[in-house]
Amino acid sequence: MQIVEATMAHLPVLDVLQQQAFADPHISGPAWTEAAIASMLGMPGVTTRLLHNHDQAMGMAMWRAVADEAELLTLGVLPAGRGQGLGRALMLDGVARLAPWGVETIFLEVAVNNLVAIQLYQGQGFAIVGRRRNYYGTAAASIDAHVMSLHISDRKRLSNEQNS
Ligand SMILES: CC(C)(COP(=O)(O)OP(=O)(O)OC[C@H]1O[C@@H](n2cnc3c(N)ncnc32)[C@H](O)[C@@H]1OP(=O)(O)O)[C@@H](O)C(=O)NCCC(=O)NCCS
Repeated sequence: MQIVEATMAHLPVLDVLQQQAFADPHISGPAWTEAAIASMLGMPGVTTRLLHNHDQAMGMAMWRAVADEAELLTLGVLPAGRGQGLGRALMLDGVARLAPWGVETIFLEVAVNNLVAIQLYQGQGFAIVGRRRNYYGTAAASIDAHVMSLHISDRKRLSNEQNS
């Protein structure tokens, strides 16, 4: 497995990953458009991570850091690659990449019915700290989101305790 920084050259691959990983928008939220991905790629403070497994692009994550805070903007793994630790690998990679930038706290939003993603985030030490009403903003699917956060120093303490 390999995780690399994505550039504009990866835009078509990122677009396919988004469309296929976010095919169930009532749970995962809608896929980003290619234009939306392109507008964020290479922006200051943004890091876009592309995961290959057995030479196949299988997942991606995009993070944005501002001062000592960062946000997980999007995370997706292709259905065929799920349940093999790839989502967890992208989370670990993101935290490891953001920490040297001085990031201390990471936030994310996740639909309250996205139980797999919530499990993944809780397993990484994220805690629910708030709720955003009507996350997707459509009358057709009025789903709230949890706001979750992770203090990177707490995570380090947790993993030290688990290893001792
Ligand atoms: C959420 C997502 C990224 C998880 O990716 P994944 O590669 O399947 O996750 P992993 O295999 O690394 O599993 C990590 C943890 O997630 C949880 N998990 C994974 N599959 C699960 C399942 N079928 N049921 C319950 N929990 C599950 C577990 O807690 C697991 O940890 P464990 O293996 O220690 O038990 C993937 O399901 C996805 O792309 N979903 C669609 C897009 C999406 O919802 N993105 C998040 C938007 S906020």
